[in-house]
Amino acid sequence: MDKVLNYIGKNQKRYLKELTEYLSIPSISTLKTHKTDVARCAGFVSDHLKKIGMKKVKIFKTKGHPIVYGEWMGAPGKPTVLIYGHYDVQPVDPLNLWNSDPFKAVVKDGKIWARGANDNKGQNFIHMKSVEAYMAVEGRLPVNVKFIIEGEEEIGSENLEIFLKHNQKLLKCDAVLISDTSLFAEDQPTISYGLRGLCYMEIEVTGPNKDLHSGSFGGSVANPINELAKIISKLQDNNGKIKIPNFYKDVIPFTKKERENFKTLKFSDGKFAKELGVKELQGEKGYSTVERISARPTLDCNGIVGGFTGEGAKTVLPSKASAKVSMRLVPYQDPVKIAREFKKYVMSIAPKSVKVEVKELHGGLPFYTSFENDYVVAAANALSKAFGRKAVYSREGGSIPIVVEFANQLKAPVILMGLGLDSDNIHSPNEHFHLSNFERGVLSSVYFLKEAEEL
Ligand code: BES
Ligand code: ZN
Repeated sequence: MDKVLNYIGKNQKRYLKELTEYLSIPSISTLKTHKTDVARCAGFVSDHLKKIGMKKVKIFKTKGHPIVYGEWMGAPGKPTVLIYGHYDVQPVDPLNLWNSDPFKAVVKDGKIWARGANDNKGQNFIHMKSVEAYMAVEGRLPVNVKFIIEGEEEIGSENLEIFLKHNQKLLKCDAVLISDTSLFAEDQPTISYGLRGLCYMEIEVTGPNKDLHSGSFGGSVANPINELAKIISKLQDNNGKIKIPNFYKDVIPFTKKERENFKTLKFSDGKFAKELGVKELQGEKGYSTVERISARPTLDCNGIVGGFTGEGAKTVLPSKASAKVSMRLVPYQDPVKIAREFKKYVMSIAPKSVKVEVKELHGGLPFYTSFENDYVVAAANALSKAFGRKAVYSREGGSIPIVVEFANQLKAPVILMGLGLDSDNIHSPNEHFHLSNFERGVLSSVYFLKEAEEL
C-alpha cells in the first residue's frame, strides 16, 4: 500500500498534465456542433483506460453519444466494483465571464480551472489514476473493476438507460462507485445517500395573434406576460409550499434519526447568505437550509422570455410569453405523475383570455439509499483515512438520473463519493476543482478498493 501511495505522490504533476489534455476536448453533449468532439473525447477515455491496464476496452455506439467500457477481472472470488462517470460537459456560455479559456485548463490558486474540471472529468479521472497506481506498482487490483464512462449525463442519460437494460451481464457488479457530487463543506469528507429527482416543464402563453401597440390596444386584451406572471405567482404560497395538488403526496417524511443527522452537519446560514450576496435566505417554512437544499422538493423558474427585451423602451403588448420551470423532487415523487399534476393545475388556473400550453421537457427519478450498507461504510472509512477526518452523511440537492437505474437494474448498492464543492462553479463560468480534493480523491479511491477487498 505504501508503495502505491508513494507512486501517487510522485506522479501528481503528470496526472495534471493528462487531466489538462482530457479537459481540452470540448465534449459538450447538448450541442450538435460538438458531436465529433464528444466522439473524440470517448476516444481519449478509451485510450486512457487501455493505458492504465484495463482489458476489453470498448467504445459502444448509441443513438446519441458513445459509452466507454473497460474492465479488469483478475481477482476471482473478490467483489466487482463498477465505476461510473461522464465525459460530457455543459456548454460554456456566457463565455465573456470566464477568466481563462474553458478548454485550456489553468492551474492557479491551488485549483484547476476549466469546463469539466469538477463535473465530471476531474472526478472520474481520480479513479483512473488510483487504478493506474495499483496496476503500475502491484500489477493487480485488490478487487475486480469495471469502468463505464458515458457521454450523455448532462442531457439525461437516455441511451445509457437503454444500454443498461441490454447489458446487465456485462455490468454485473457488487457495488457502483460514483464521484459526481459535492463535499458537504471544504475539508469535510462526505457520502451522499440521496439525490434529488427532476421534473422540467415549459409554459407558453399566447395572447393576441401579433404584437400590438400598447397605447391602441392596452387594456382591451390580456397581456401574455402579465398572465404568465400571475400563473407563476400561484405555483407557491408565502410559506414556500408548492400549491400543485398532490405535489407532496408521495414525499416520505424525514425519520427522527435523519433529522438529527441533518442537525449535526455544521452549516452557517449567515455565511451562506453572505457568499451568495443576499440579505436574507428564503425557503419552505419549517425546514432548515440544509434540508431545503438537499432533501425537500423545490420549484424554480429557470428562464422567462417575452416581449421587448432590447435596449431602451418600446411600447408593445406582446403576443407570446414563456417560462421554463423546474422542480427538484425527493423520494418517492414520480416525475411523470408530477408533470401530469403540474399541467392539470396550470391549465386550471389559466384564464380564458389567453391560450396556455404546457410541455414536459425532461425528468429524472430521485434516489435514496441506506447508509448502513457495507460498501457505503467502506467508502466512508476510505474518505476518513484520506482526509484525516471523519466522513459525514448528507443528501445531494442535484440530480444524476441514471443512479436509480443502476440501483434497480443491477441490484447493487450505489456509493456517492463526491469530491467537488458547491462553490466550484459547475455549469457556470470559471468552473474549477481543488487540487487538494483531486489528490485526496485519488487516495480515497485507493483506500476504498482495498477496503472492498474484504467484503
Ligand atoms: N454532477 C451533477 C450533479 C450535481 C449537481 C452534483 C449539483 C452536485 C451538485 C450532474 O452532472 C448534473 O448536472 N446533473 C443534472 C441532471 C439533469 C441534467 C438531468 C442536474 O442536477 O441538473
Ligand atoms: Zn452536470
